[in-house]
Amino acid sequence: MTEPNDLPTTIVIFGASGDLTARKLVPALYHLFGKERLPEKFRVIGLSRTNWSDETFREKMREAAQTFAGDQFDQDQWGPFSEHLHYFPFDMTEESLYEDCLAHICGLEDGPANRLFYLATAPQFFPIAVEYMGKHGMTAEKEGWRRVIIEKPFGSDLPSALELNRVLHEYLHEHQIYRIDHYLAKETVQNLLVFRFGNAIFEPIWNRNYIDHVQITAAENVDVGHRGGYYDESGVFRDMFQNHLLQLVSLVAMEAPASFNAGALRNEKFKALAAVREIPAEAMGEEIVVGQYEGYLETDEVVEGSRTPTYAAVRFWLDNWRWQGVPFYVRSGKALCDKTTEILIKFKTPPHNMFPMGPGEPIRGNMLSICVQPDEGIHLRFEAKVPDTPAKMRSVDMEFHYSDDFGDLVIPEAYERLLLDALNGDASLFTRADSIEEAWRIIDPILQVCEAGLIPTAKYEKGSWGPKEADKFLARDGRRWQMGCWHE
Ligand code: BG6
Repeated sequence: MTEPNDLPTTIVIFGASGDLTARKLVPALYHLFGKERLPEKFRVIGLSRTNWSDETFREKMREAAQTFAGDQFDQDQWGPFSEHLHYFPFDMTEESLYEDCLAHICGLEDGPANRLFYLATAPQFFPIAVEYMGKHGMTAEKEGWRRVIIEKPFGSDLPSALELNRVLHEYLHEHQIYRIDHYLAKETVQNLLVFRFGNAIFEPIWNRNYIDHVQITAAENVDVGHRGGYYDESGVFRDMFQNHLLQLVSLVAMEAPASFNAGALRNEKFKALAAVREIPAEAMGEEIVVGQYEGYLETDEVVEGSRTPTYAAVRFWLDNWRWQGVPFYVRSGKALCDKTTEILIKFKTPPHNMFPMGPGEPIRGNMLSICVQPDEGIHLRFEAKVPDTPAKMRSVDMEFHYSDDFGDLVIPEAYERLLLDALNGDASLFTRADSIEEAWRIIDPILQVCEAGLIPTAKYEKGSWGPKEADKFLARDGRRWQMGCWHE
């Protein structure tokens, strides 16, 4: 009998004429092909309404790969890769076309095959595509596996996410569903697990006894650009907090899983999210700051007078033994002064200071910063004695940069890892239904308060670090935002 792993594999992309396919998916598949990581027999079938032929699709994808694969594009390799690309004009909202589509796929396969469906479409099409695929026999695992990758956003609040999960589960088992959060596939994010659980020296101090607080910053220097319509409906909470940032919180906060498999990992991440305290409406003013950059309202497709936040800072609390009383300050924004994502662990100061300090010279707590991007690495800041002084202290850094230690290895694009894992049936880096719902449980009350205009939206200058209110927010706790990896 042929094992599923020996069968040919078909990757079917819905939304194949869109940006995501051209910028990310095809370049990622092309790289995987170059590294000989794709199944021996595979084909990619692009579906979308645009009336392209196989040749036009291949040509468009070649242009995209050349642009987005940069220096790594190799025409000689593109040739053999492009022979695997096919295209079928298809309107996914027309149920009557699914039989034809399936017949076309089967015709190309010429025998049993595994199928990976990638929904690279606008989110309103997810339920309909899954429903019609399910009704027309595309999701049933008879000969070969069937898997579906779903892009974000996964719902726009808890009720819509519950409904989407309900539809998905009507036609698919949870093990067939791969919900993408591209942050989880960043090397530096995956390294958090190795850093915490592959070393013995950090875990014993990774708790409320030693850690004063945690800061997570995801700053972007670009504004919302041409995505005004999408962004105005989403804002920073749906765009960054509900998914990427809460995933980072869960990875920092989770307990050690017993093994490195999708089930064990996702159980622990879920438990960490379940410990995040829901912010009561009356405390919202204390726990969050929201902002909007100046000029946002002039963006195309942004509603007049929109209050959509392009920046937010939130103080999260986790109610469990490890983290009780340790605030997690999380902030993200568009049009800030730099593009950088960093996790900073601020340790407590020594319980007693035996050194003579000058006036206004407080003893500082150690700081560990994990730079997710762009200068991927880890910095540990500690105090050192300044030479030729009795006991004057200065903070110094111990630094690890990926570029120094793994310089010859190009850090792959997140989509490479994700596509490969989905092909291999490893769901560790994908978000499970329960975590998605848990994240909405945390974000929904914040959205409700913001959308009702119950907390003020502070304006901030483009190219700044966000509204001044966010600095005051930390100052109230006697703290300040710090960036260990980001050098001014
Ligand atoms: C996406 C958001 O999910 O993540 C974008 O929709 C944001 O608004 C992007 O710019 C940030 O991703 P990265 O990998 O550039 O940090």
